[in-house]
Amino acid sequence: MSWLNVVRIIQKLKQRDMKKSQFLPLTLALLILATASCKKTTPELKEVFKNDFLIGTAMNSYQVHGRDPLAKPFIIKNFNSITAENEMKWERIHPAPGVYSFAKADSIAEFAQKNNLVLIGHVLVWHSQTPDWVFRDSVGNTLSRDALLARMKDHIFTVVGHFKGKVKGWDVVNEAIDDNGAMRKSLWYQIIGEDYIQKAFEYAHEADPDAELYYNDYNNEQKVKRDGVIPIIKSLQQNGARIDAVGIQGHWHLDEPDLNELDESLSAYAALGVKIVITEMEVNVLPTPPEVYGADIQQQAKYLEELNPYKNGCPDSVQTQLANRYSDLFTIFMKHKKDITRVTFWGIHDGYSWKNGWPIVGRTNYPLLFDRNYQPKPAFWSVIKTAKGE
Ligand code: G3I
Repeated sequence: MSWLNVVRIIQKLKQRDMKKSQFLPLTLALLILATASCKKTTPELKEVFKNDFLIGTAMNSYQVHGRDPLAKPFIIKNFNSITAENEMKWERIHPAPGVYSFAKADSIAEFAQKNNLVLIGHVLVWHSQTPDWVFRDSVGNTLSRDALLARMKDHIFTVVGHFKGKVKGWDVVNEAIDDNGAMRKSLWYQIIGEDYIQKAFEYAHEADPDAELYYNDYNNEQKVKRDGVIPIIKSLQQNGARIDAVGIQGHWHLDEPDLNELDESLSAYAALGVKIVITEMEVNVLPTPPEVYGADIQQQAKYLEELNPYKNGCPDSVQTQLANRYSDLFTIFMKHKKDITRVTFWGIHDGYSWKNGWPIVGRTNYPLLFDRNYQPKPAFWSVIKTAKGE
């Protein structure tokens, strides 16, 4: 029974001029009924998928420090896994040579432990958000291969060692493949060579033999990039490295990726004998310049009013498109649920999404399942229906 119905019934009872001794207990009973049915009708995401895969969210230190008092209880209610959105990245956790700064990441880890949430480590080796000093010696010269490998090892041993027993799995290498499917010519690649990936996985395994290890990328559900990622996984396997899963970030759009291509990619990765984790999911609803269909934070586009069409609210027609899109995506996830171990959303509600600031700063986006007031959107309900096979 909805609250609206309760209010209507109470108004009718009042009009009937009912005695106070009858009116009060009846009203109380209605309120109890409404509260109970409200609880019943808003399912908890993690419960709905408990037999399928973990349901995670990205979390930031603003939320863990309770500056938004609704965030923590909401996370505990809906999710059973968290990933630090930024706090474990190299520039945050290891900002200067020999300086490790664990406080913010520690508070996220503590929150996870206290509330039985599976903590994911993000991220060890990435071309982005890695300070320039990492690749240079004390006088500014580019490091040799051996010196950079030693620096990578120190970082991985220190960070993975610090969170040993607290982090279930690490995004060891992030975004090593370029949009054309070739190896990204990052400084890691240029200085160390292609085997920097193998080394990173070896170090991570040595630092915590119990931790799961993932290779993570965006657009790797698309064939072009998948064809670059598959050889990486095979090479790791052939060279005896531990690799548990391939991470598909899932920074998606209403019209991208192609669903058949996603379906094929999930089968192709599973055929390698690794699991699949959807690591950073959201569905952008705003018009996007074609050159920034990805997640490379370096790419930015210019603000234009026509590229920010829903700043006063998301129209019903767009909510419906989003709901249908989420339903299509979760239908594919459910089809592959034996191979998918986790689906993590990149943010708890629309207001926290990085998509409000990228690739164009200052827009109002609606890419997640909950709105800015923590209310479930039509997309939430379509995901629930899909889970139940309705
Ligand atoms: O916290 C500072 C704040 O103090 C400062 O005033 C403000 C001014 O720019 O910046 C704030 O930091 C920003 C941070 O997000 C927190 O909002 C950084 O500039 C900004 O670069 C950073 O962006 C993050 C981005 O990665 C780059 O690290 C996004 O939040 C985060 O969602 C995004 O996540 C990445 C994944 O790690 C990897 N896959 C792609 C995904 C999207 O780019």
